[in-house]
Amino acid sequence: PHKGEETLRSPICCVMGHVDTGKTKLLDYIRGTHVQEGEARGITQQIGATFFPVENIRDRTKELKADARLNVPGLLVIDTPGHESFTNLRSHGSGLCDIAVLVVNIMHGLEPQTIESLNLLRKRNTEFIVALNKIDRLYGWKTQPNAPIRKALKQQSKDVQNEFDRRLIEVITQLKEQGLNTELYYKNKDMGETFNIVPTSAISGEGIPDLLLLLIQWSQKTMVEKLTFRNVVQCTVLEVKVTKGHGTTIDVVLVNGVLHEGDQIVFCSLQGPIVTTIRALLTPHPMQELRVKGTYLHHKAIKAAQGIKITGQGLEHAIAGTSLYVVRRDDDLEEVKESAMQD
Ligand code: GTP
Ligand code: MG
Ligand code: NA
Repeated sequence: PHKGEETLRSPICCVMGHVDTGKTKLLDYIRGTHVQEGEARGITQQIGATFFPVENIRDRTKELKADARLNVPGLLVIDTPGHESFTNLRSHGSGLCDIAVLVVNIMHGLEPQTIESLNLLRKRNTEFIVALNKIDRLYGWKTQPNAPIRKALKQQSKDVQNEFDRRLIEVITQLKEQGLNTELYYKNKDMGETFNIVPTSAISGEGIPDLLLLLIQWSQKTMVEKLTFRNVVQCTVLEVKVTKGHGTTIDVVLVNGVLHEGDQIVFCSLQGPIVTTIRALLTPHPMQELRVKGTYLHHKAIKAAQGIKITGQGLEHAIAGTSLYVVRRDDDLEEVKESAMQD
């Protein structure tokens, strides 16, 4: 293994944007799943989490750069709802992530929750990439499944290319009006100041290799400090729910550190701090959504970053959005309880 491989954790990437811009569909395309089709009215109403192992990303980006050095174990992707009523979930999601993808529908340009998401990201100085999605909707678009974006654009007629340029410039102008400099990523000469745009289709997959590679490379390049693995547990509750066969469970995002089966944990509840033990640590299979019912893998220990389902007693009292604390041998339980109640 190359230097750094053991020390970096997976970056957490949040997918944000206006309702129906294609956030879930983009993830479905990458995962090869059908989560979006199973959603009520096609609307995401929860935060999701999916782990993409780095081998998978390496494989899908081969055509772009055969020997790109990818030093992180993978990418933990958080899906968020775009519907206006879920500002709290978008805020929670954006607070968890190291990097984000802001999805914009090329046919609509900027919309109200695009701007809301943008402001959430800027408030925290979060790096992000704009995915200019639904390019297959351009009239006359010739699909090229999975193709890198430059290759796909070269194959289009002059009319399609002109229409693409016109809509791209429109979006760049709208973003400029929000005080943001952006540019197509392969023309961007000033990546520190100018945010990258990657055109994509969640239906035919053009631009997806570009998006995946840029996400990993940009994270590795600009966030080594932040992504350095630390053995201090940082873990937040996404959801409290009954899972068939497991009673009430909590879905969490482990941002840093390691969780073990049998760990004593503390979290806040309306009745005060709750102390309990991790009975089981479950994850979906790689490339599967945590929020979707399925089969789970059992783990003795899990290293960050991961989306995890925890089973144990008393979890029904947990509150989404709060932190989970682990009591280690040298810790003072009363102090940990106090920290938990500060949430
Ligand atoms: P919310 O989570 O509810 O905010 O929506 P979303 O951003 O996750 O969008 P979703 O994945 O639900 O997609 C909305 C609709 O757009 C669905 O009907 C998708 O099939 C369609 N769609 C998404 N991406 C694309 C794309 O790249 N091209 C085309 N043609 N349709 C797309
Ligand atoms: Mg969605
Ligand atoms: Na939707």
